[in-house]
Amino acid sequence: MTQPLPATPGAAATHPDPYPYYANLVAHRPFGYDTGSGLWVAAGASAVSEVLADPACQVRPSTEPVPGGILGTPAGDVFGELVRMTDGAPQVRRKRVLRMALDTVAEEQVAALAAEQAGRAADWTDLQFGVPGRVVAALLGLDEGISAEAARLIGDFVRCVPASATAEDQAAAAAAAARLLDLLAPQLCARSGGLIGELVRLAARDDRTRTAALLANVIGLLSQTYEATAGLVGNTLLALARHGRPPEDLPAFVSEVARHDAPIQNTRRFVATATTIAGQEVPAGAAILLLLAAANRDPLANPDPHVFRPGRTDPQVFTFGRGAHTCPGRAVATAITVGVATAVTAVPSHEGYRPSPNARIPVLKGQLV
Ligand code: HEM
Repeated sequence: MTQPLPATPGAAATHPDPYPYYANLVAHRPFGYDTGSGLWVAAGASAVSEVLADPACQVRPSTEPVPGGILGTPAGDVFGELVRMTDGAPQVRRKRVLRMALDTVAEEQVAALAAEQAGRAADWTDLQFGVPGRVVAALLGLDEGISAEAARLIGDFVRCVPASATAEDQAAAAAAAARLLDLLAPQLCARSGGLIGELVRLAARDDRTRTAALLANVIGLLSQTYEATAGLVGNTLLALARHGRPPEDLPAFVSEVARHDAPIQNTRRFVATATTIAGQEVPAGAAILLLLAAANRDPLANPDPHVFRPGRTDPQVFTFGRGAHTCPGRAVATAITVGVATAVTAVPSHEGYRPSPNARIPVLKGQLV
């Protein structure tokens, strides 16, 4: 049965099959203003790359660096320090520290941790959300009790992130942030093991990185993991059910899933000063929706873009962003997914996608064990 097209570009993320819609945009309007949503929309690989490289295009509106509903709450305090939510010199400095710490992580260790956790998952939801959260918490150096609580709380914290967050979401996020700060602050010590100790030692060399910023970005590692990795795990298990198990090179299979059926389908930028994108004037104050999943399937970026082909030569993958805000967790997310896919032999079906403006997280069904 042919599915009706998504009503707006933002609704495409959870549509059963958004790819014909994206292909039409890539072919006919790779960059342009969408009157229905009031957003500028970048769909073509070249336009998406241009926006991500343009310093006039920032991660938050200059008039509202922290969403009004969480300003002055613990969630707002965390949000305002995140590398994901800030631009400029402090972001660059803090990002360098995060990247250096994440570079010390061995992918085989991550995959092994994920496989072990996957073997103990209570159900599909726990496998998609709980396992990645507990793996990253363990990499941070948190003990099992704290890991499990932090992984649970992060689900409430991320409720404040989408523009569609309600007052109830914001209150839940504020309560979760307060508890996360209490739980994690005592762990922030140079003698700590794992990534936390690494981060504290690296940040100590840069006397401008404050403890509050470090603590917020430790929470940021957990929150950035949460939905995105749940989507990659789910979409990979469905792709394995569809295409069969690859005899080898699971990492190449997972990378192709990330390109072909991106767990994060879009991101946003806000224009701080008037700029020109793809030859068009974009005014200050404009909001841009970047369809990363459409750019992944632009034939100018990837030949035969709709074909699922693990091991492509030089694949252009936009799913993890580009430029100053590129995801530093790509290798960790891939290794977690490889570990889960190795451990889980059950073949799920799925019933639609979880409601989200940007993540594509299938609701998995069937017997896990
Ligand atoms: C499949 C899983 C993942 C996907 C698809 C993903 C995707 C992304 C994307 C698209 C961005 C940039 C957003 C933008 O520029 O607007 C981003 C940023 C980020 N990601 Fe990931 N991510 C994933 C997993 C992870 C994991 C596991 C971690 C941590 C261990 C992580 C940490 C971060 C951080 C800290 C940022 C902010 C970087 C910055 O703004 O400079 N991500 N991610």
